[in-house]
Amino acid sequence: MSKIVITGGAGFIGSHIAEALVQDHEVVIVDNLDDYYSPALKQRNLDCVMAKGDVDFIKGDITDLDLVRKVIDDTVDYVFHEAAQAGVRISVEDPFKPNNINVLGTLNVLKASLDAGVRRLINASSSSVYGKVQYLPFDEAHPTMPVSPYGVSKLAAEHYCRVFHEIYGLPTVSLRYFTVYGSRMRPDLGISIFTRKLLANEPITVFGDGEQTRDFTYIDDIVRVNLRLLETDAADGYAMNVGGGQRITVNDLIAHLRKITGSTSEVVYSNKQKGDAEHTMADVGRAKEVVGYMPEVSIGEGLGRFVEWHRSDGNGCS
Ligand SMILES: NC(=O)c1ccc[n+]([C@@H]2O[C@H](COP(=O)([O-])OP(=O)(O)OC[C@H]3O[C@@H](n4cnc5c(N)ncnc54)[C@H](O)[C@@H]3O)[C@@H](O)[C@H]2O)c1
Repeated sequence: MSKIVITGGAGFIGSHIAEALVQDHEVVIVDNLDDYYSPALKQRNLDCVMAKGDVDFIKGDITDLDLVRKVIDDTVDYVFHEAAQAGVRISVEDPFKPNNINVLGTLNVLKASLDAGVRRLINASSSSVYGKVQYLPFDEAHPTMPVSPYGVSKLAAEHYCRVFHEIYGLPTVSLRYFTVYGSRMRPDLGISIFTRKLLANEPITVFGDGEQTRDFTYIDDIVRVNLRLLETDAADGYAMNVGGGQRITVNDLIAHLRKITGSTSEVVYSNKQKGDAEHTMADVGRAKEVVGYMPEVSIGEGLGRFVEWHRSDGNGCS
């Protein structure tokens, strides 16, 4: 049994990772229940984790180094760093908040982890670090030219992780997640919004012409690759793509969801939003080679599971 700290463990991805670990490990969650989206949903996420096993929940802010040091002390083996101000659009409106949480907060988590001698820090990064497309799919050698303040903050955090490995010897891995979906997903993400509106037969707004493409990754695949990093040190110092294995247009995504829901919602097209990436698609070759990662849940299967979860009240655990 290891002692594992999960920052942002009350959020979408962090709570799924916590749920997968809680029976076999001592899990500590640190999360400030930020109100970017409803704290009640985060409390629900925590309840889902606690229903599976004992968890030590500490309500706290990762921008507070003293607090982070208290949470990540020398009894901690691993840190999954999921806390962040996620979301491209909010970062366009207010670049300071993502910078504080994603850059300064990550630096605090790194420094505390280094001083505590943790065995590995697994950092949640993002496909947003790529930004401008030079070729697809993105491999990790693709230039990083973020197109949003959020992407800049995630790239800076990733570089801090690499440098802490190279200079100070702290084992770190950054996982570049490509749009993650599944039960309890963030309510501000496209699949969430579209599904809610489709089920209510309300109009859907698409920003741009809907021909932008995304590589969507089902939450179970994300959890699986995170857990693998408790078993191998082969990935230390790397940033690795974690994608779902195919890209589809937003128009095709809506067509899939419309078929599953049987909805009659009309689609309204509006101006492209600042900061949105045009296309994303992961080459997962490195993650396959280093940790044996292959996405297992296809978009059709994942969307079916997600709509099912939504239909069965959209507020349960899975
Ligand atoms: N969901 C995606 O599609 C996606 C894609 C790429 C990368 N990511 C990254 O994955 C990670 C998890 O994302 P998510 O979708 O689960 O987001 P989320 O917002 O559901 O979870 C983040 C959690 O961090 C907490 N938090 C925010 N600021 C904090 C602070 N100052 N101190 C402590 N806790 C704080 C929030 O309360 C929240 O519970 C983030 O690092 C995000 O950037 C997510």
